[in-house]
Amino acid sequence: MATMVEHASETQTDFLPLNGTDHVEFYVGNARQAAYFYRAAFGMRLVAYAGPETGQRDRASYVLQQGKVRFVLTTALRCDSEIARHVEKHGDGVRAIALWVDDAAESWRQTTKRGARSVQEPMQCSDEHGPVVIASIAAYGDTLHTFVERKSYSGPFLPGYKAMTDDTVARPVGLMYIDHIVGNVGWHAMDEWVDFYSHVMGFSLYQHFDDNDISTEYSALMSKVMANSTGYIKFPINEPAEGRRKSQIEEYLEFYNGPGVQHLALATHDILTTVAKLQEQGVSFLSVPHSYYTDLQARVGKIDEPLDELEKLGILVDRDDEGYMLQIFTRPVEDRPTLFFEIIQRKGSRSFGKGNFKALFEAIEREQASRGNL
Ligand code: FE2
Repeated sequence: MATMVEHASETQTDFLPLNGTDHVEFYVGNARQAAYFYRAAFGMRLVAYAGPETGQRDRASYVLQQGKVRFVLTTALRCDSEIARHVEKHGDGVRAIALWVDDAAESWRQTTKRGARSVQEPMQCSDEHGPVVIASIAAYGDTLHTFVERKSYSGPFLPGYKAMTDDTVARPVGLMYIDHIVGNVGWHAMDEWVDFYSHVMGFSLYQHFDDNDISTEYSALMSKVMANSTGYIKFPINEPAEGRRKSQIEEYLEFYNGPGVQHLALATHDILTTVAKLQEQGVSFLSVPHSYYTDLQARVGKIDEPLDELEKLGILVDRDDEGYMLQIFTRPVEDRPTLFFEIIQRKGSRSFGKGNFKALFEAIEREQASRGNL
């Protein structure tokens, strides 16, 4: 059963106060071309750049933004590089989920003292716009959490980046902020990472799902959603569960070569417009069978959006005690069946779409079968 879990007592002091997600950095094979895809298809705007022209000798990074969603696409310029090794092992994927904090050194101290592995000790860097402090710890697989303190910084992104203006390629679609970021971990590793988020990061369990909620004839997974004290940062953690055939999580782990970020959910206030634009701009979504919509009204009750428009776009709906939510999933955004995106609009509901899992998994499995991986 899916279970909602109440927040930890608010009288407890939060040893890791987080203001929000600062950015998500992807290591990719060709950042210039990946940036074009996220600008033209997802409507992100190019706002900053760092590379050889700005004094970066080993990498090029493109900073893209839409609403509060900020992506950094980084590529290696030479083969002897941790970026190149990451791309060789994983393909394009998320390297760092960066969290915006008021005190990066203290965030690093609090988490490393509770057992986090340090990847980057607190480091101050500055330019004419002021100082920034960053520090990083290891999360699942080769994924990092980077703490970014920028309260005295007024530049376009981080020191060393130059501002880019007038992006004529970007076609915004109304994306507002990151709702949640999901990690896939290996067999029986979910609780280890739930413990990490709980003990090292001070998060608490927000919801969990077991394989009775999330299983089809072939595929199963277990999921626990961890959230920080404000509920702004939500990290569901998935592990595979025993099914008759290879699960989608196993397929991910095989092609990503280990644990990593499975999907990012991006929030909009108008999913009908956002998804119609994304489709026009070439983003490819999982399709949903007609049968899903024939019993939708009975399952979710009255909603504001016309059912025929939802069906035309393939948008899913789920309801809980607090309201409802609308969601849709892209196909993987690269050739490996690894990273994909979710577009989500919440209308009161805190759900992650439990009522949609079965319909959704059946759609994912049709695609897995078409790749010969089921
Ligand atoms: Fe999700």
